Amino acid sequence: MTLRIAVLASGRGSNLQAILDAVAAGTLDAMVAGVWSDRGDAGALFRARDAGLPAQLVRPRDHADRRAHDAALFASIDAAAPDLIVCAGYMRLICAEAVEPRQGRMINIHPSLLPAFKGLHTHRQALEAGVDEHGASVHFVTADLDGGPVIAQARVPVRAGDDETALAQRVLAREHPLLLETLRWIAAGRVRLEAGTVRVDGRTGAAPLQLAANQRFA
Ligand code: GAR
Repeated sequence: MTLRIAVLASGRGSNLQAILDAVAAGTLDAMVAGVWSDRGDAGALFRARDAGLPAQLVRPRDHADRRAHDAALFASIDAAAPDLIVCAGYMRLICAEAVEPRQGRMINIHPSLLPAFKGLHTHRQALEAGVDEHGASVHFVTADLDGGPVIAQARVPVRAGDDETALAQRVLAREHPLLLETLRWIAAGRVRLEAGTVRVDGRTGAAPLQLAANQRFA
């Protein structure tokens, strides 16, 4: 069954574009039901409109508080009846009232090897910590910021002389295939959240899936 995806994004939308390109190329059995953003200048909204998709701006300042903003945002998303909500560079905290009813149906891509380097400026955090390996994670969203069960990760080396920009580019290049491969597994019914843990091919308790160099899960 073709997976109906709602995408939430605050920024340039390169992860969204990777999804749109894979759907168009027939390499991901999914359709994008719409794109939602908290920022009118988000590149993701322009990409959605270019692709002829519904693009919805739900501005925080038009709502009394975070709870009211999330209520309006998710009411709009629910109206599109997605199977899965993908946070692809959505930079606002989502309140527990909005997350909890959607657990197992909402994922996020985060630019670090979680549980390391939650929150913002993850590449700076990695450089300051002096790690020799960094990367990206896709996880189910829970009320715990960047703390939900990790589904899959992609690893990159940290090289001598790296600055934040160089490291961010190396990670982003792996984010796109990581997100796509995770979506393929979810679309195929191979990955789900059960009793708060990730279940892969019927097994629980395994380490997160790892994206191999040939861009398939090892
Ligand atoms: C990506 O690097 C994504 O991992 C990150 O924002 C970027 C969005 O890029 N997300 C977070 O930091 C969430 N905490 P994009 O707009 O080009 O897809």
